[in-house]
Amino acid sequence: MTILEGKVVAVTGAASGIGRALSQALVARGAHVALSDVNEEGLAETVASLSGATNVTSHRVDVSNRAAVEGYAADVKARHGGADVIINNAGLTCRASIEECSYEDLELVLGVNLWGVIYGTKAFFPLMRERGGGHIVNISSINAFVPFPLNGPYNMSKYAVHGLSETLMQELAGDTIRVTSVHPGGVKTNIANNARKMPKEQAEQFNRIARTTPEEAARVILDAVEKNKERVFVGMDAKFMAAAKRAVPASTVSLSAWATRRMWARTS
Ligand SMILES: NC(=O)c1ccc[n+]([C@@H]2O[C@H](COP(=O)([O-])OP(=O)(O)OC[C@H]3O[C@@H](n4cnc5c(N)ncnc54)[C@H](O)[C@@H]3O)[C@@H](O)[C@H]2O)c1
Repeated sequence: MTILEGKVVAVTGAASGIGRALSQALVARGAHVALSDVNEEGLAETVASLSGATNVTSHRVDVSNRAAVEGYAADVKARHGGADVIINNAGLTCRASIEECSYEDLELVLGVNLWGVIYGTKAFFPLMRERGGGHIVNISSINAFVPFPLNGPYNMSKYAVHGLSETLMQELAGDTIRVTSVHPGGVKTNIANNARKMPKEQAEQFNRIARTTPEEAARVILDAVEKNKERVFVGMDAKFMAAAKRAVPASTVSLSAWATRRMWARTS
């Protein structure tokens, strides 16, 4: 069991949504938190929401920048004496077909969602080794099982993070460093509002259909970490889609495309 009380937990993307809710839930469970984000204003709001908790540090970090993530790990070591858990949560998306998506947008999404997770994992490995163990928590998505059209960079990044987590599970089997791969369905956060090239009506539509609150997502994720679960689906929608993909893989992929187009037709 990775009991979080008294542990030092680094969280990326802590300025909003799931990252903010994770920060609040971690503090409630007695963890020491090293919170990072590229959005300093949002990060300050997260820290303010922790109502004076001690053992909280905040760090401005762009996870797509290797040197910045390595600097983050060094800072966490200097200020907390080490780290036990890294939660690679920062993420974003861009609405575009593969054909029309610019290389810049592909690089941006893969830079944050994939390279950010690679950098976070590798930069915090030595700190966890120094502690004699730890936990890597990678926030992927249900999109790692069921892709959605016009979300190609995001789908690719989440499939890749899933592959990274499963490889870590193989390589760390029997090790003192554990791995949890997280696959949420729709969570009511700013993900759609923050998305590149997302029409406002479609962002609003996502916000209406996303069922899980960030607080519920954080509770499910941290329970999974404390129980050392390797894989967790967050929300009934994610559980349903994962089951459908296992049962009828090709039909599930076609159905997700059909359902998405049908939904968007109502806003165009
Ligand atoms: N909301 C959902 O429906 C949903 C579903 C599945 C997976 N997820 C994943 O959950 C994670 C958290 O997303 P969220 O829903 O809370 O969205 P959000 O937009 O509310 O929060 C994402 C955070 O990541 C930060 N971020 C973006 N680029 C960054 C960078 N370069 N460096 C550091 N931080 C950066 C943002 O500033 C923001 O604070 C993401 O990995 C997302 O893909 C979300």
